[in-house]
Amino acid sequence: MLTNSISVNKKGNLTIGNADTVELAERFGTPLYVFDEGDIRKNCREFKNAFDEYYDGNARVLYASKAFSCKEMYRVAHSEGLGVDVVSGGELYTALSVGFPAQMIYFHGNNKTPDELEFALKNNVGRVVVDNIYELKTLNNIAKEMNKRADILLRIKPGIDVHTHEFIKTGQIDCKFGFALENGEAFEAVELALKEDNLNLVGVHCHIGSQIFETEPFKLAANVMIGFAKTVQNKLSAVFSEINFGGGYGIKYLESDDPVSKAASVKALTDAVKEACQTENYPLPTIVIEPGRSIVGASSLTLYKVGAVKTIKDVRTYVSVDGGMGDNPRYALYGADYEIVVANKATLPRDFTATVAGKCCESGDLIQEHTKMQKVEVGDTLAVLATGAYNYSMASNYNRICRPAAVMVNDGQARLIIKRETYEDIIKNDI
Ligand code: LLP
Repeated sequence: MLTNSISVNKKGNLTIGNADTVELAERFGTPLYVFDEGDIRKNCREFKNAFDEYYDGNARVLYASKAFSCKEMYRVAHSEGLGVDVVSGGELYTALSVGFPAQMIYFHGNNKTPDELEFALKNNVGRVVVDNIYELKTLNNIAKEMNKRADILLRIKPGIDVHTHEFIKTGQIDCKFGFALENGEAFEAVELALKEDNLNLVGVHCHIGSQIFETEPFKLAANVMIGFAKTVQNKLSAVFSEINFGGGYGIKYLESDDPVSKAASVKALTDAVKEACQTENYPLPTIVIEPGRSIVGASSLTLYKVGAVKTIKDVRTYVSVDGGMGDNPRYALYGADYEIVVANKATLPRDFTATVAGKCCESGDLIQEHTKMQKVEVGDTLAVLATGAYNYSMASNYNRICRPAAVMVNDGQARLIIKRETYEDIIKNDI
């Protein structure tokens, strides 16, 4: 199957983290997000261990919590010694609510509000990753009022165009995030930041995109960022002690996907940084990375109950499930690929072609089209694999459908980590 965490048991049912998915669906109801804690922890360790091996541990691995943010996930990341990247007051609040050490929190975003910045500074977050001049000024003023000095990174667009979906490319000049290098914006921002009394410029950040399969763009980013750091050192006598290369490491959604291992990704990045630093005669910075998808994405699946199965002669078969774009908007948004398995028939051949539709009042509410699975019938349990990243976190209440519950499994044992929404929850803010 897609990952080592997913298998089939003696009953012929699909398992994740040694838990029987059909039993999970019966016990917790559907739709249900299921996360394999052991596999998530393994992913965290693979990144950390690789930096220990290839960079003497002079690195910070931050979990990009936008991929899947809830209290338990911050607890898991913290217990693995990871920091986190947050992009809103809400993510920050959730992390702080479980006692996540503020110094290990990096605050991102292209339009942080003054309230959010104040909230972050009040709680002494580790770094604010400043996106634009307005934010730089606002943050400096807020820090001055609080009599604090904020540790910041500047978000740079390194001018790298990666091979991924248009919506998740972020390294090129025409992008809403950060300061461009090509037109001198980034350099001017450094000059400004160095002049502000209440800001401490620790270094720079870049994030070139998401679901990237090659190591080459990350190597290129290393060269560009160290080259920029050297220019800053030469012209302004400032040295960056930290360079953050963002996330973006691709995962296996389909059997045919072949992502680079975490260790190989880290080795490629650290080799490139070491080489660039040697060429430029620049002190080795602390490297920070922010993997999100590669921590949680493939360690998970979503379970649905099959309802109506509609075969339109000479057209296609629609298999309707009890969730849809509300809990997984990624096919509707990006045409994202997924493997689908009938969990209670997992040993049978996947020789039936169908389109899996959700229950929203919208034709585009599809999870996957013309995809292979076992012959499916009403009442079957369907598993959509590798849904851990950007599913729950992008879920909505469209059509006032309740958001699903989430469970964490660990070696066969399951525990609820997010309760299923109720109709009461749906109306609780209505007046
Ligand atoms: N750091 C920054 C600054 C980011 O913007 C992102 C993702 C990450 C780290 C984590 O990237 P990852 O390792 O997960 O690729 N909703 C889209 C993905 C949007 C990614 C946004 N930024 C999707 O469902 O594919």
